[in-house]
Amino acid sequence: MEIHKYEKFWFGLSLLLIVAFIGTITYGAVGAGVEMVSDDGGNVEPDNIAENEKFQKYQNANATKVDDGEYAVAVQALQFAFLPGTGQPIRVPENSEVTFYITSSDVTHGFNIVGTNVNTMAIPGQMGEMTVEFGEYDEPETFGIVCHEFCGAGHENMAGQIEVVPEEQWEGDQ
Ligand code: CUA
Repeated sequence: MEIHKYEKFWFGLSLLLIVAFIGTITYGAVGAGVEMVSDDGGNVEPDNIAENEKFQKYQNANATKVDDGEYAVAVQALQFAFLPGTGQPIRVPENSEVTFYITSSDVTHGFNIVGTNVNTMAIPGQMGEMTVEFGEYDEPETFGIVCHEFCGAGHENMAGQIEVVPEEQWEGDQ
């Protein structure tokens, strides 16, 4: 069977496009520092977050030290605030690895640190767990937190802050 040369050309080009599409999807899913948020955090009673062990230990504005250079913060999302984070910034020391435990006590919210790839949903009943590295800063650096899931009338005002504090200004656990 003879295949016309233009047909061969377009056939080859379509194959190449398919390979390229699969390539970009693969890169988008596993390359460029993209990681799925783990479900290791397990379940949590949305009506009873205060009873949760992680929230009892880590729901503080100053990140709680868990090991050398490692800290934890538990964040409760609710209509229309992050606790902690809204009103009073979450404070973390520079050069640290901070694990965020995130859940919601009412409806589904989002948790995105503006300008970074730190981004998860806050789902009632589920505990999101995410470890974030913070670098070195000469001056305190503030990052915004926004809710990116439509959660009701005050959604667009649901925001918070994370302040990364230079070592010598850090007043939390050393
Ligand atoms: Cu919470 Cu939108």
